[in-house]
Amino acid sequence: MRRVRYYEYGGPEVLTVEDADQPVPQAGQVLLRVEAIGVNFADTRFRRGPGSGSIFQRPLPGRPTGDVVGTVARVGPGVDPRLAGRRVAALAEDAYADYVVAEASWLAAVPDHLDSGDASMLAMSAPVALRILRAAQLNPGDTVLIHAAAGGIGHLAVQLARFLGAGTVIGTARSAHKLDFVHSVGADVAIDYAQPDWPDQVRAAAPGGVDVVLDAVGGPVLQSSLDLLAPFGRAVVYGAATGELEQIPVAKLFALRSVVGFNLTAWRRTAPDLARQEMDEITGLFAAGHLSTTVHADLPLTRAATAHELIEARSHTGRILLSP
Ligand SMILES: NC(=O)c1ccc[n+]([C@@H]2O[C@H](COP(=O)([O-])OP(=O)(O)OC[C@H]3O[C@@H](n4cnc5c(N)ncnc54)[C@H](OP(=O)(O)O)[C@@H]3O)[C@@H](O)[C@H]2O)c1
Repeated sequence: MRRVRYYEYGGPEVLTVEDADQPVPQAGQVLLRVEAIGVNFADTRFRRGPGSGSIFQRPLPGRPTGDVVGTVARVGPGVDPRLAGRRVAALAEDAYADYVVAEASWLAAVPDHLDSGDASMLAMSAPVALRILRAAQLNPGDTVLIHAAAGGIGHLAVQLARFLGAGTVIGTARSAHKLDFVHSVGADVAIDYAQPDWPDQVRAAAPGGVDVVLDAVGGPVLQSSLDLLAPFGRAVVYGAATGELEQIPVAKLFALRSVVGFNLTAWRRTAPDLARQEMDEITGLFAAGHLSTTVHADLPLTRAATAHELIEARSHTGRILLSP
């Protein structure tokens, strides 16, 4: 089978297509014949290596993670044999490959009629989008500010905020075509946060402040966002695309503001039953047409480097897929 790994840190060109044996599922694992792989931003940072910041460190050889959609080809010891032949989605390691192993306990069942773009969101991206809104204790009518709203998780968070009854949804992104896209997925207001006056633009749209901020950008964007929170406002921090890990100034919290952190691994470990329940809930939302994924590019597996180039150019809207 073919597999993509990297043996040194660097640009997209270090991604190497190679022949490899099919992996063997161990206890608690399944082997998937891959239909599509959702490519995630974090793996472009892991691939860049030490300069990417402390949250983006992974050892060599680099084995990119991915949101894999596929069919169970084999089950490992202790796994229900009836899973064989099922179409599923999973967040997996060594994921840019024709065959991938995944943990059986975190598979999302994929309805047949769901396309591979939607299916690629079931295991990780959409559950994160839903959980960060719940971590923010979103109330109907709340004003919600979603940063990087044109991205993979961002464009789902906009739709989910709408679905859960948010009042005004404000999305930020860089570039005109991304702002059009943010509007098209349901935001009332789309703001270019590359403009220095973007916080004033948010204030104009939400004079009383925002009730919820979802941020995985970090740096000055996070700092300014704290100032935009209304009394009792909640910011959920779930990443730092800039690599800049901010100190949270306690003085800003005295104005009745809260900051909550989120990480999927910690969430699955701490509340596994609820995490699984939310994967099922997400599947139902896609199946019912309440959520949909925009696929920006669907590339052959051998063009993994192009997928990373698109993400690093910050040109993508929605999802980038690799298809073996
Ligand atoms: N906590 C968790 O469990 C968890 C799980 C998965 C992902 N994440 C985080 O969630 C975020 C979204 O993930 P995703 O895979 O859906 O990515 P994505 O949103 O498709 O891509 C990242 C976006 O971040 C924005 N960005 C802001 N500053 C940037 C910078 N300095 N360099 C590059 N991009 C920058 C870009 O949008 P603009 O060009 O519009 O600014 C870019 O499109 C990432 O930060 C990721 O690390 C967290």
